[in-house]
Amino acid sequence: MEFFFRPEGVAVIGASRSPRKIGHQVLRNIVEGGYGGKVYPVNPKGGEILGLPVYKSVLDVPGSVDLAVVAVPAPVVPSVVRECGEKGVKGVAVISSGFGEVGNRELEEELVRTVKEYGMRLLGPNIFGVVYTPARLNASFGPPEVVPGKIALVSQSGALGIALMGWTQTEDIGLSAVVSVGNKADVSDEDLLDFFSADGNTEVVVIYMEGVKDGRAFMEAVRRCPKPVVVIKAGRSERGAQAVSSHTGSLAGADLVYDGAFRQVGVIRAGDVRDAFVLARALSELPVPEGDGTVIITNGGGMGVLATDAAEDEGLPLYSGPELVAFRSAMPPFGSYRNPVDITGMADPTMYLRALEVAQESRGVHSVILLYCETAVCDPLELAEGLKKEYRREKPLTVAMVGGSRTAEAVHRLNRAGIPAYTSPAEAVRAMKGLYLWKEFRGKRAPLSGGAR
Ligand code: COA
Repeated sequence: MEFFFRPEGVAVIGASRSPRKIGHQVLRNIVEGGYGGKVYPVNPKGGEILGLPVYKSVLDVPGSVDLAVVAVPAPVVPSVVRECGEKGVKGVAVISSGFGEVGNRELEEELVRTVKEYGMRLLGPNIFGVVYTPARLNASFGPPEVVPGKIALVSQSGALGIALMGWTQTEDIGLSAVVSVGNKADVSDEDLLDFFSADGNTEVVVIYMEGVKDGRAFMEAVRRCPKPVVVIKAGRSERGAQAVSSHTGSLAGADLVYDGAFRQVGVIRAGDVRDAFVLARALSELPVPEGDGTVIITNGGGMGVLATDAAEDEGLPLYSGPELVAFRSAMPPFGSYRNPVDITGMADPTMYLRALEVAQESRGVHSVILLYCETAVCDPLELAEGLKKEYRREKPLTVAMVGGSRTAEAVHRLNRAGIPAYTSPAEAVRAMKGLYLWKEFRGKRAPLSGGAR
């Protein structure tokens, strides 16, 4: 699978001079994304595109080609893929639609046969491409800029995957990879899980899934994966399942069956895409808590109550032991050191940092949720800078900040510094819950049968 992510040479078949065509945009993203290897546009018209010489066939390319991205109309795909086989290409990523998803199964089978005949691997068809930020490879027609990070995103939906790529930018969510799997005619979620399991640049795998072809193989791949796997499984409702079948032709299956299987192997199931990234952000940045006992620190009583309700709903046990008394040193006399620890609206950054210190020192506290409502006495940016300096990363810390534009900037700063920050208390609680789920699920990671692969 390595050649999809760190190819030595990339050919774009169907590269076009016309900026409105997908073959042009893929080439542009590869060139402008800063990919360091050789790039070969292929188009029977020849000439030059974006300053690169165009080859009339992949067979004319002088150097070796590991990856071919194919963006020509479906009926032409099998012949260009055969040429790729002759050339010795290792992986083909077929962007073109018009295969199994529209009932054209024969054409898809022909494509798979050709790929197998030459010992190649096929990503797709019906995909938007593949991105791997450590190699600065953006072989997709998604947004040109991708924030580098530790989350690998695998999407069965093209448009949603593209939208998420853009969204991760505005939300400061760093990605190691984005892979569009489309019809999964050959490369499956399992293949990708195995790749990301061993990939030193990936900490968490997020999968948007409509259906799996081989449930048992997927479960085994999850068990083999030593990293958190967060799945957004679409088609939960009966109507949703019908929509899935006309979208990617997948069988959504009974949701209860998926849910049970996910639980068995320790998949962290996300309710929707936002939830998936709330979880993945914390899972990719924070240490796993060593034990139960969360403390909520807040300058607003209401925020504290909302977070307590959310913790109750999530089954997240709050710390209630004797060490809470130490929080008195971080609040005015009318504050409350019961959990939630209410350091009051008078709290300034010094009081917050003192409360954080107490939580970091306390042996009974294993995780911290810090909440902030914007007040004139506590500048959010000063608080964010203080947290960046004082947070020791020994226990997980999630933050929720509610306020105006300075608060929004503080949230950005924290996220960019790898301290998961959200704009609602429920999300900060949910993110912490994700870490506790992963703590519980880690133990489930052992092969179903035989030794570890
Ligand atoms: N080798 C190389 N290039 C070839 C070729 C061949 N054998 N045959 C044709 N081409 C060239 C064409 O000449 C054209 O280049 P030009 O602009 O210089 O003429 C280019 O390949 C593209 O072909 P064109 O016929 O113009 O198709 P298109 O760009 O309008 O559409 C697809 C091609 C693949 C994008 C389209 O068929 C498709 O499948 N679109 C859906 C993609 C999608 O949504 N995927 C899923 C996303 S989630």
